Amino acid sequence: DSAGRGGYKHFMLKEIHEQPRAIADTLEGRISEGRVLPAAFGVNAEAVFKTIKRIQIVACGTSYHAGMVARYWFEDILRLPAAVEVSSEFHYRNPVLEEGTLLVMLSQSGETADTLAALRMVRVRSPQMPILAICNAPESSLVRESDLVLMTHAGPEISVASTKAFSTQLVALALLMLSIGRIRAILSEQDERRIVAGLEKIPNLARDALQHDEAIMALAERLVDKQHALFLGRGVMFPIALEGALKLKEISYIHAEGYPAGELKHGPLALIDENMPVITIAPQNDLLDKLKSNMSEVAARGAELFVFADERSGLRTEARLHVLPVTSHVGRISAPIIFNLPLQLLAYHVAVLKGTDVDQPRNLAKSVTVE
Ligand code: G6P
Repeated sequence: DSAGRGGYKHFMLKEIHEQPRAIADTLEGRISEGRVLPAAFGVNAEAVFKTIKRIQIVACGTSYHAGMVARYWFEDILRLPAAVEVSSEFHYRNPVLEEGTLLVMLSQSGETADTLAALRMVRVRSPQMPILAICNAPESSLVRESDLVLMTHAGPEISVASTKAFSTQLVALALLMLSIGRIRAILSEQDERRIVAGLEKIPNLARDALQHDEAIMALAERLVDKQHALFLGRGVMFPIALEGALKLKEISYIHAEGYPAGELKHGPLALIDENMPVITIAPQNDLLDKLKSNMSEVAARGAELFVFADERSGLRTEARLHVLPVTSHVGRISAPIIFNLPLQLLAYHVAVLKGTDVDQPRNLAKSVTVE
């Protein structure tokens, strides 16, 4: 009913616009005087975090993409080895469960069958391995069966396509990184304070990034008749490219693929012609020039480009190159959260133009509770 949708046409749009608040709520009570509270992950967290040597993240769908982003942070910022895998593969491939691993399960619902099966497999095979759940459903099986828990405070997510759960998972993962970094004395107090200050700015940055609705609607009109779309990103924007492609395919039924931009020449370039729109995510970082040369490669083959860019990127709209300036204030942690927002809106508007059932896409379920 429209009351539940708070005046929005769809739950998905409502939930997209709830993200600034959901992010603020997820930070609330976890930070004090510029530092992460050690107790945020439970009383045993400190003892557990002291002993871990690596992190294994396991999740499905959009939650898996959040884990992929966090892997970049853990290794780059903490120099802590981190791996991420989809639950159904991790569960069945007889993985090596090394001592000193913290298993991090990510799930909006806490009821995804494969994610629970992966947790239970680890419990049986390696009973000592600490398991941390990052979850949005306090009463869920995942929360009950984990040793440590950090709840995302996204509030109920109704739309099958996940939006605010993803953003709050990323915030929770940043808190985890900071907490481990502090307890293990990997991060200096100064670095911790700098990153925390960055996290506290995200709700306002998200509010600003969600203001581009009209420009995104115009881009959606150009995409609505396409059969395929390719999303490209580098570094931490590679998982965001995957997530942008997943959103588009889930709700608009356009075949979309996400690729690391550096892999273009290893296959996807063969698909490029004037009928293959290419969507890129172009933050201001040391990979920008590499991404720009990938964009030239696809443009030379006739692709129409849609670029979600940092205002400082120097990229300007011209024929068959549509540049949407998203922001100019993001850092390493906030960038994937902020740049993902216009991709959610893009998928949403394409789906609305196509007239699909946005909140309940065909063949999909909110929570996949059977294999
Ligand atoms: C389904 C949903 C996705 C979600 C995935 C994992 O595919 O449609 O939105 O990302 O399950 O769900 P979870 O609840 O474990 O995060």
